[in-house]
Amino acid sequence: MSDIRSLQQKIEKLKKELGVTIVAHYYQKDEVFEIADLTGDSLELAKRAKESEDEWILFCGVGFMGQSVKILAPHKRVVMPKIACCAMARMIDSTYFDQSVEAMEEAGIKKEEILPITYINSGAEVKAKVGQMGGAVCTSSSAVKIIEKALQSGKKILFVPDRCLGQNVARQMGLKSAVIGIDEPQKIKEADIVCYNGFCSVHQLFTLKDVEFFRKRYPGIKIAVHPECDPAVCEVADFVGSTSQIIKYVQSLPPEQKVAVGTEYNLVHRLRPTNTYVLSSTKPECPTMNETSLEDVLDVLEGIEKGAPLNEIFVDEETRKWANVALERMFEYVEG
Ligand code: 13P
Ligand code: SF4
Repeated sequence: MSDIRSLQQKIEKLKKELGVTIVAHYYQKDEVFEIADLTGDSLELAKRAKESEDEWILFCGVGFMGQSVKILAPHKRVVMPKIACCAMARMIDSTYFDQSVEAMEEAGIKKEEILPITYINSGAEVKAKVGQMGGAVCTSSSAVKIIEKALQSGKKILFVPDRCLGQNVARQMGLKSAVIGIDEPQKIKEADIVCYNGFCSVHQLFTLKDVEFFRKRYPGIKIAVHPECDPAVCEVADFVGSTSQIIKYVQSLPPEQKVAVGTEYNLVHRLRPTNTYVLSSTKPECPTMNETSLEDVLDVLEGIEKGAPLNEIFVDEETRKWANVALERMFEYVEG
């Protein structure tokens, strides 16, 4: 029996004995993804992990994902095989958040006219700041709905930390956007959505040149990308959506339809056996998502068994309370 299969069998046995739900994001390595009880995009994982009956959640993903479950369901014990921090989430903290609000004020927008929205790819402190200011969290699949709802307040949106997602939503909705630190104060003042200048380095690997290359090489090919890609790439793509939405889109195509996909490698290579390409000449792997191994998962389960859990997630109660307000607002807006 291969090492992988034997590790998977040990994990499957132990997780049942201990009553642990294993959750994995689509970007996890195949062998880790295969042992998960729950898989999905960020919105689905937050919702389903919160609703799971088990006390223990073992989250295979990046830090903000496990942290979001702990915020939403504080009675649960959340452990992670690796507390790998999403590089984009690390681009903003509460100080940078406050400075962004100040930059908007300096551009002539009063604080009470600002409604912040944070992408779920951010830490608990930033979510808490957003919750305190009356704002909400969004994911890539819920961003349009959340911003539509937020704009009903008549306020300007401060969108953190992903510049690309903010700009892509603005373009899709026919709204004006500006980026703090790049655009002039006048442009910031006139924008409906003011974006923080964060980004995902993995999704910046997909370029207009890649789109041109695939369209020239395979006439009629479809291009599907994640909204963390550069707005210039999203503008020319045939489809833009979250990880779950990309999977549904590709599955809906006839088998002979070629498609090039701009998102993380592990997801793309699992999509379809034929006629599916990674929209890049490089291998677009998310380094932090790929840190998690089966050995780590087994170590964490053994830690629970011994009564000495490894990498347990904790969030201080004041931060959790306000971050939870922002996360629950997202569910309210999505479902309402
Ligand atoms: P999804 O919500 O689409 O799964 O995206 C998460 C993510 O980190 C993409 O880089
Ligand atoms: Fe973060 Fe980018 Fe990795 Fe997604 S792909 S987890 S945004 S670094």
